[in-house]
Amino acid sequence: MEEKLQTLLREKRTFRPPREFTRAAHVGSKAIYKEVSSKRLRFWANQARELTWFSKWKKVLEWKPPHAKWFVGGRLNASVNCLDRHIDTATRNKVAILWEGEPGDRRAITYWELYRDVNRFANALKSLGVKRGDRVAIYLPMIPEAVVAMLACARIGAPHSVVFGGFAAHALRDRINDAKAKVLITADVGYRRGQQVLLKRNADQAVAETPCIEHVVVVRREEAPSTQIHMEPDRDVWYHRLMADAEAYCKPAVLDAEHMLFTLYTSGTTGKPKGIVHTTGGYMTQAVATTRWVFDLKPEDVYWCMADIGWITGHTYVVYGPLALGATAVIYEGAPDWPDRDRVWDIVERYGVTVFYTAPTAIRAFMKWGPEHPKNRDLSSLRLLGTVGEPINPEAWMWYHRNIGGERCPIVDTWWQTETGGIMITPLPGVTTTKPGSATIPFPGIEAELVDANGKPVKVGGGYLVMTSPWPGMLRTIYGDDKRYREQYWSRFPGKYFTGDGAKRDEDGYFWILGRVDDVLNVAGHRIGTMEVESALVSHPSVAEAAVVGRPHDVKGQVLVAFVILRSGHHASPALLDDLEEHVVTEIGAIARPEDIIITAELPKTRSGKIMRRLLRDIATGTALGDVTTLADPAVVAALKEKYEANES
Ligand code: PRX
Repeated sequence: MEEKLQTLLREKRTFRPPREFTRAAHVGSKAIYKEVSSKRLRFWANQARELTWFSKWKKVLEWKPPHAKWFVGGRLNASVNCLDRHIDTATRNKVAILWEGEPGDRRAITYWELYRDVNRFANALKSLGVKRGDRVAIYLPMIPEAVVAMLACARIGAPHSVVFGGFAAHALRDRINDAKAKVLITADVGYRRGQQVLLKRNADQAVAETPCIEHVVVVRREEAPSTQIHMEPDRDVWYHRLMADAEAYCKPAVLDAEHMLFTLYTSGTTGKPKGIVHTTGGYMTQAVATTRWVFDLKPEDVYWCMADIGWITGHTYVVYGPLALGATAVIYEGAPDWPDRDRVWDIVERYGVTVFYTAPTAIRAFMKWGPEHPKNRDLSSLRLLGTVGEPINPEAWMWYHRNIGGERCPIVDTWWQTETGGIMITPLPGVTTTKPGSATIPFPGIEAELVDANGKPVKVGGGYLVMTSPWPGMLRTIYGDDKRYREQYWSRFPGKYFTGDGAKRDEDGYFWILGRVDDVLNVAGHRIGTMEVESALVSHPSVAEAAVVGRPHDVKGQVLVAFVILRSGHHASPALLDDLEEHVVTEIGAIARPEDIIITAELPKTRSGKIMRRLLRDIATGTALGDVTTLADPAVVAALKEKYEANES
């Protein structure tokens, strides 16, 4: 870990931003931060008051490290906060979701209509036997029904587990089995780059090995009834049929603040993804507080967060945050460059998007399309831009500021994680002075710091990013594995939450996130565990051993490079390499497709048997050997290893 931190610190180039960005930090705003920091719990309690509660909490925080309970004794329902509380106001007839499918189909759904659908679907889930506490898996494209499904689960107190629609059948199966979900909600197909994604077919494959699933609900995304879709009698049921039969009103469950709202699987440092557990009161409080403060949403805003609901960003900033605030949110189903590179800007122009939130990888892709891009598009409706998911390089930040923001929109670079539930380190627009490439300072009420390998705080310089106190949206545990929760997050620096990220801190106290220092990679903003990809590779009959590392990439941030030792009797060939690639895609999904597979005769290991990942990274980037396509000669690896060991000592 230390070695990776040092490499990241070395690699981070210095960048001189234009003068207007180098003024003294957060002029005039220190007071806000100071005031909150001395009354942290009061600040969070005030944020929680913005929600609608059935009964108020008795205690703001109960902290028995590493377990936190927020708003102890309070009762609420997340769907009431996103819907019911708006329908007695003018927001009732406001558009909640402006949806656009990739093929060009469009829908505008008001809060009242969404409320209707959520109520009906909540009753439909009940009719399938789903009860409070039962887990429901959701495997859908970015269609309004995904939001309906999540809120319907929340309404009856059934925690949802959304699985990104780009995941393969095996990945879906493992997540369903781990959460022991009772019902799976999917669609016949989704659309991506003009292709149909056969979600139901994947779901069928997955469900063949998930004994816990009793029913599969299928949304008909295709207009014409698809003959290719197999509906298993007694198990599978069409969404539209269920909805036609369901009662119009479903009384919301009165839930404890610590009732589990959802679990969401994310990659860790082992082959098995972790089910991150979020509960209702604290998560909703942070979702609403951060959406309000960071995006500064006003009733007239048209807000577009490009994330898929399969990720935490989609949960917090497509669904729960904006809907709880009664905002109008744009949801787009497909690829940003389909059918052409103007798609994103067409959407911004058509709906008059005012607040736009995306990932650095998308910004870098836009940059590549040329200086004239976006051409002939009126982006003057935009007033605020956001970024999330990976470190943004200052050049991309400046491009975003100039070409998209017309030099008038503030940029919020927001650092957070699946585990944190909501934004943790970010500027506040109009309050915090930004520096291109820095996520700036912690959100009010959040306490972050950097520590060295011994856990000693680092005021200025490089270190490991930790949280020193609990926050409302924090994960409560890992589903079914509290031991892993303690070990993973709380054991490296006792008493502090370890994020897995390295960062630098400057003289103004600003944080510059460097990226992961553990075995988690970030490919185009998607979090992928090296071990997950390694397990997928060794499950192929020709593979004896595999090691996966990240290689820097100018658009995706990082790409995967796999080193593979073949079993005896198997030989490297272009066909085998293709086959291995496809195998990873079948096991995990296209997001885990290795960019390069290097066949090697041995993997360089230390005397204690640890794979020398730095050497592999240097080979993958060409710094160790120049351009290597095969390392099949054991002497090559041995010689390199010797050289590295000599350098190390
Ligand atoms: O490395 C950090 C990076 O994304 C990781 C969390 O990934 P995930 O749980 O998938 O959540 C992504 C969306 C919240 C972090 O450990 N990361 C996220 N935001 C930033 C970031 N790195 C730098 N700057 C950011 N703004």
